[in-house]
Amino acid sequence: MTKSDVLVLGGGPGGYLAAERAAQGGKKVTLIEKRALGGTCLNEGCVPSKALLNSGKLYEHAKDSAAFGVIAEHVTIDHAKVVARKDKVVKTLVSGVGATMAAHGVHVVMADGFIKGQTTDGFVVEAGGEEYAGDKLILACGSVPVVPPIPGLREGVESGFVMTNREILDMKTLPKNLVVIGGGVIGLELASYFSMIGVPVTVIEMLDKIAGPTEREVSALLLKEYKKRGIDFKLSCKVTEVGKDCVMYEEAGENKKVEAEVVLCCIGRRAFTQNIGIENLNVYMERGAVVTDEHMQTSVAGVYAVGDVNGKIMLAHTAYREAEVAVNHILGKKDFMRYNAIPSVIYTNPEIASVGETEESAKAKGLEVRSVKASMKMSGRYLAEVEKGDGFCKLIIDTQKNCLVGCHMIGSYTSEMIYGAALMIEKQMPIEQIKELVFPHPTVCEVIREALFA
Ligand code: NAI
Repeated sequence: MTKSDVLVLGGGPGGYLAAERAAQGGKKVTLIEKRALGGTCLNEGCVPSKALLNSGKLYEHAKDSAAFGVIAEHVTIDHAKVVARKDKVVKTLVSGVGATMAAHGVHVVMADGFIKGQTTDGFVVEAGGEEYAGDKLILACGSVPVVPPIPGLREGVESGFVMTNREILDMKTLPKNLVVIGGGVIGLELASYFSMIGVPVTVIEMLDKIAGPTEREVSALLLKEYKKRGIDFKLSCKVTEVGKDCVMYEEAGENKKVEAEVVLCCIGRRAFTQNIGIENLNVYMERGAVVTDEHMQTSVAGVYAVGDVNGKIMLAHTAYREAEVAVNHILGKKDFMRYNAIPSVIYTNPEIASVGETEESAKAKGLEVRSVKASMKMSGRYLAEVEKGDGFCKLIIDTQKNCLVGCHMIGSYTSEMIYGAALMIEKQMPIEQIKELVFPHPTVCEVIREALFA
């Protein structure tokens, strides 16, 4: 039996950052990971998809460069090379996480962990035939794609006709066409890449809008831009069956079908809590996710849950902060988790970035708000650099507290700008103080200032 102060189950962003921070705080840490350090984010999610999207954007820029006075002829894309570069990026980052763990003295165990429960030695996890005990246990086991009981879907996954984010990011050859089930974050990012490189894409979405909870005007503009690029959207359509080379769906009571060479299923993820012995801990769970308090502690003192496994906000950067909050609680430092200023980005082309309330969510909470908006075209840099595509920044202002409560943007660079708005919301900066800030010129972030003075 190996004993540690802190035992971490799962080596994704939540797990590896928790391990690093706990080690920095002087704790003896063991981290157990069954597949690869970096988890979904580094290996089959955020990072690899960004590598693909960047190649897609470069290809598109090269094809459209004549408008900028740059003549590039016979531009082609080599998808296998794009995937090979993605693999290189992933390898570098994953080995970087390994090196960080080693540098902090974290004992990494590469094996499938199974929770045995609480004993006099602490919380015990079995992995690779060994037992590991920790005074504290941080659950960071992530999430898995939802595969609902739609007839033919599971068989499609087994035959390889239906892929999830994991398989599609490794696909080396391009399909004749791609049908995406689910117009959420994963569906839109991958539809963006494959359509940019010339694969005909159809997105089937159950709701009447894409990008789920995204602010309505932003989601409407994204839809318009995507349609211009030729992506076919079937909105308010529910997938009813998956055949051998097609997807059946229901539209306004009518049964329809679309042919497909490859299907991407991305209709959400669920906390990964099955077959890991979680029942041996007796932690309180709701809808398959581990319930946590503001210190990320579960119903069992000494057991914490960070990242997707708690089912709150399935984003890597949420997991990072939750990991720090959990470790600070273990170290006896004052800290608590706040979810009101967590930015969210969809790396489509154009990008979407938002933080805080929309008009609808603010009103539902009884806040009195007004919204102000500025077009991206008010930014000199945007006009100089972006030839095609509209964009805007919309701010939601609490008129009683006179501070910013929401920011919703669409357009190039917004992913890099959103943290500024998150900071203003987190710190509840009065509007008058924000107006006094000096923004660099010419930059696209000036659009935030333009909106404030609109
Ligand atoms: P999602 O929850 O974003 O979107 C799923 C979509 O599928 C929804 O719009 C839903 O209405 C639709 N849907 C559900 N059942 C359907 C059916 N039978 N027929 C048609 N449509 C159906 O889930 P997604 O895209 O799988 O992403 C999973 C998680 O990964 C999300 O929590 C997301 O936050 C995270 N993620 C975040 C990224 C980012 O921050 N850039 C990138 C990729 C994933």
